[in-house]
Amino acid sequence: MHPIIPPFPVTRLRRMRSTPALRDLAQENRLSVKDLIWPIFVTDVPGADVEVSSMPGVFRRTVDGAVQAAEEAASLGIPAICLFPYTDPSCRTEGCEEAWDPENITNRAIRAMKAAVPEVAIMTDIALDPFNANGHDGLVRDGMIVNDETVECLVKMGRAQAEAGADILGPSDMMDGRIGALRTMLEADGHQNVTIMSYSAKYASAFYGPFRDAVGATGALKGDKKTYQMNPANSDEALRLVARDLEEGADMVMVKPGLPYLDVCRRVKDAFGVPTYAYQVSGEYAMAMAAVRNGWLDHDKVMLESLMAFRRAGCDGVLTYFAPAAARLIGA
Ligand code: PBG
Repeated sequence: MHPIIPPFPVTRLRRMRSTPALRDLAQENRLSVKDLIWPIFVTDVPGADVEVSSMPGVFRRTVDGAVQAAEEAASLGIPAICLFPYTDPSCRTEGCEEAWDPENITNRAIRAMKAAVPEVAIMTDIALDPFNANGHDGLVRDGMIVNDETVECLVKMGRAQAEAGADILGPSDMMDGRIGALRTMLEADGHQNVTIMSYSAKYASAFYGPFRDAVGATGALKGDKKTYQMNPANSDEALRLVARDLEEGADMVMVKPGLPYLDVCRRVKDAFGVPTYAYQVSGEYAMAMAAVRNGWLDHDKVMLESLMAFRRAGCDGVLTYFAPAAARLIGA
C-alpha cells in the first residue's frame, strides 16, 4: 500500500506543505459546486413561509419562493434542489392520501420549478411523514408500521412526482421493497429516465430534530422510527441495504446523517463504487450555526471543511443546507 518512505531528512513531509503552490499541487480532493444538492422547504400554509427557528438562514418557501430558489441554483451552478413539504395539519391523515395528490404542495412546486428553470434537477422525498397524522414514514395499523401497504402508497406518491416532472426520486422511508416497486412503476409508466437516489443507509438519528421543526412534524411523531431506520451502532447492515437497493434499481445511494457517519460513506464507496451521497442533516447544520452565532466557530471555514470531509470520505456529492452559501464561496 505505502511506498517505502526514506528516513528523515531525505523525507521531509513538510516540504510539500511549504507554499500555497505546492499545497495546491499536493491537494487530493477539491470541492465543486457541481456536487451540491440543496434541500429546501416548501409550504402553502399562510404565514408559514418564515425562517425555521432552529435552522438560522433556512426559510420555508412558497411555490414562488421555490421558483426563485431554482433560479438562484441555476445562477450559482448548483445542479439539483431537493424538496420537502411543510403541510397544513388538516392535510395530515391516517391514510396519508395527500401524499399522492397531484395538486399537493410538492407536486405544484415541481411543475412550477421545471417550467421556469428546466435545467435544475428536482429531487423529491418519498415518505409519508409530512402527510401522516402520526408523523411516521409508513402507515400505522394497531400501533405497527405496516411495510407492504406503505410501499403501495409510496409508489403512488412517486408516480405523482414523476408525472409532475421530478428528475430524482428520493425514497427516505426505509421500508423493504420500495426501490424495486418504484422502479417497476417507473418502467411501466414510461419514466425510464427518472432516477432513484435511495436513502439506503438512513439511521434512526437524533440529528433530524430541526428538520422535524421545519416540516412541522415535531409534535406529531408518536414514538420513534427505530423499527425502520437503522441502528447507529451498525455498518455491515448499511452494506446489505446498499446492495439490496442497487439490485432493486437504485441509481444512486445515500448515507444519512453525514459527518457522524463518514466511515459508512467510505465503506459504501469502497465496496460498490457507485454514485454515493451523504446528507449533511438539519442537526449538523444547526450545531454549526449555533456555534457560529456564538462567535465560537468561523462560518465559512467550518462549512468548507465539513464539505471537504465528504469528498475525502469518497462521496460524489452532498445534500446540504449550506449549498447556496458554499456555492457563493467556491464559485461556479
Ligand atoms: C423524512 C425525512 C427526514 C429527513 C429527511 N427526510 C426526517 C426523518 O426521517 O425523521 C431529515 C433531514 C434532516 O434532518 O435534515 N422521512
